[in-house]
Amino acid sequence: MHILHVVGARPNFMKVAPVLRVLQQRDGVRQTLLHTGQHYDANMSDIFFQQLGIPAPDVFLGVGSGSHAQQTAQVMMQFEKAVLADRPDWVLVYGDVNSTVAAALVCAKLRIKVAHVEAGLRSYDREMPEELNRLVTDQLADLLLTPSVDGDANLEREGIPADRIHCVGNVMIDTLVRLLPQAKLPDVPLRESFALVTLHRPSNVDEPESLKRILSTLTELSDRCQMVFPVHPRTRSRMADIGFTKPADERFLLLEPLGYLECLALQKHATAIVTDSGGIQEESTYLGVPCLTLRENTERPITIHEGTNQLIGTDMDKLKIEFEKVLCGSGKRGRCPALWEGRASERIADILTGVQSQKSGFRRAA
Ligand code: UD1
Repeated sequence: MHILHVVGARPNFMKVAPVLRVLQQRDGVRQTLLHTGQHYDANMSDIFFQQLGIPAPDVFLGVGSGSHAQQTAQVMMQFEKAVLADRPDWVLVYGDVNSTVAAALVCAKLRIKVAHVEAGLRSYDREMPEELNRLVTDQLADLLLTPSVDGDANLEREGIPADRIHCVGNVMIDTLVRLLPQAKLPDVPLRESFALVTLHRPSNVDEPESLKRILSTLTELSDRCQMVFPVHPRTRSRMADIGFTKPADERFLLLEPLGYLECLALQKHATAIVTDSGGIQEESTYLGVPCLTLRENTERPITIHEGTNQLIGTDMDKLKIEFEKVLCGSGKRGRCPALWEGRASERIADILTGVQSQKSGFRRAA
């Protein structure tokens, strides 16, 4: 069986790593790793391959940045050639980035089978480009592998046949569980208590007034607790546009994007996390660290119902109040959702290779 994995952007790398590792140990499986090059900076891509032990891509498309249409179209044109050169039995696509939807659409038209890892997540907010990517990818995929049962329910509501849907658990947690013992804090002047900040959603950073409001609130909060902020390239360029200058002291640390192991250690040791990232909402739930999410909605509601995540939206007064509660020790507590234990990639490999183990518990309830 020939399986081709498509990755393109930072959040894909922690998802593909465990699936590649598990399938490598299965007899009769040949794998190809294709990187579209949507993310290309060393600190957005290469460092993840090194730290997660992902082999160098067999195929690199080098599509780079552009408008959504340009980026998606570039992936489609180049991916079509690559996939026809060595037609796989299955293509695995991950998450909700432009590379995911582009590859799924090409495969659907060529009648090459596609499995979507992290299927079924919905924010029900079509302002988010990722939501459109999720909707289209799930309509096209032959096999939908969901991280939690809410994903199964969303897909069934959209008319996806139940026999295509499998709740396998969260592959990103497989990577977290494996690498947590190796997590290492970055070499920066950290105080005993600090908050980790990450921001990159267009809705927060592309609108100058909203970015200014968020940054001035974080500056104010840095009087109460050190802010540690690894800055995404999109956000760095928007911060330069509005003339935000680095605060003079270490109460507000602005860093370059971090490696996986450094980001994981910061999450683990943080008193609070302020973010708009999807992955960090999940990782903080696993780690039991209070997460204040600067979004009005989330495609990962299980992190709210069961985990430590809390939606703040754009209300900066609410952020200050909830942040203060976390500092006083009354932040949100939670539990780890079912099947977020480090074995999701094994369940995926079982399904793909047809070893439908009775005891592994991944089959959907009838
Ligand atoms: C993309 C994904 C998003 C994911 C995020 C994680 C889509 C629609 N969005 O958003 O789901 O959460 O990645 O990072 O696929 N840039 C660099 N160097 C890089 C990569 C990007 O400088 O290595 C710059 C680009 O030139 C662009 C900006 O960062 O100006 C945004 O990159 P892009 O890939 O368009 O989207 P992200 O915001 O990173």
